[in-house]
Amino acid sequence: MRVEKNSVRNGSVITKEKETQRPSSSYGYYDDTPGNAEAQRLFVKLETIRNGSEKHCLLVTSAMLGEGKSTISSHIALASSRNRRSPTLYVDFDLRRPKGHKLFNLEKECGVAEVLAGQKSFGECVKDSFVDNLKIMTAGELNFSPLEVFNSETARRFMETARSHFNYIIVDSPPVIPVSDPLTLSRLVDNVVFVVKAGATQRKIVKRALDVMAGSKIAVSGIIVNNMDNVLPCYFDPKYYGYQYYSY
Ligand SMILES: Nc1ncnc2c1ncn2[C@@H]1O[C@H](COP(=O)(O)OP(=O)(O)OP(=O)(O)O)[C@@H](O)[C@H]1O
Ligand SMILES: [Mg+2]
Repeated sequence: MRVEKNSVRNGSVITKEKETQRPSSSYGYYDDTPGNAEAQRLFVKLETIRNGSEKHCLLVTSAMLGEGKSTISSHIALASSRNRRSPTLYVDFDLRRPKGHKLFNLEKECGVAEVLAGQKSFGECVKDSFVDNLKIMTAGELNFSPLEVFNSETARRFMETARSHFNYIIVDSPPVIPVSDPLTLSRLVDNVVFVVKAGATQRKIVKRALDVMAGSKIAVSGIIVNNMDNVLPCYFDPKYYGYQYYSY
């Protein structure tokens, strides 16, 4: 399998073509790109909230749309797959604005929605990615309202099954302000991290979302500030340090 050079800063993980062999380091997955370095730094920080437990299920949410949840959760999943022996599962639990299938170049059909609706089994919908160590559950195809299939009970059953199959799970979820799904899902994971798009999302909106979570007794384990390279370019851009290191 071959993957285009990917980077959190460039915003997407796009598979170029499917092959059966493991990716060679020249295809981006193992490269020292700024995006991989940033994802690795984030992964190391996230390890500190794991409390030494063998298994870990992490949910990524934000206050509003488009703050980078899918981009960041896919990169955390990639970093997890690089760092762990046991496979990582990336779950696209955003049934309204799914993105995971695009990021990993997979069909959207046969995923969370079908499992919640009881139309398919969990095992039938786990998809291979371009590396053995990373499996993907796309959002699936919803021909009806998410409220018809998504509730505390169906979500709980889904997450119990996911946890029985995978030690490491990254859940890409919808934002907190528009919908309540992340509140339901947050109760079913070990840790919740919150993405804030710097320079874009208003402080009062972030505060409102964190208040909503606190009001539901959901602890946020960390805040990931996205878009920092646009807000403070000198902080991240290698060219500000005279680096040519990443260019070969
Ligand atoms: N760090 C980044 N650098 C550059 N582009 C980014 C970054 N993070 C996100 N983007 C881009 O911003 C857009 C929104 O990102 P993404 O889809 O990951 O956000 P989201 O929070 O999952 O959105 P939604 O609420 O719609 O699910 C995408 O086009 C993505 O490529
Ligand atoms: Mg998303």
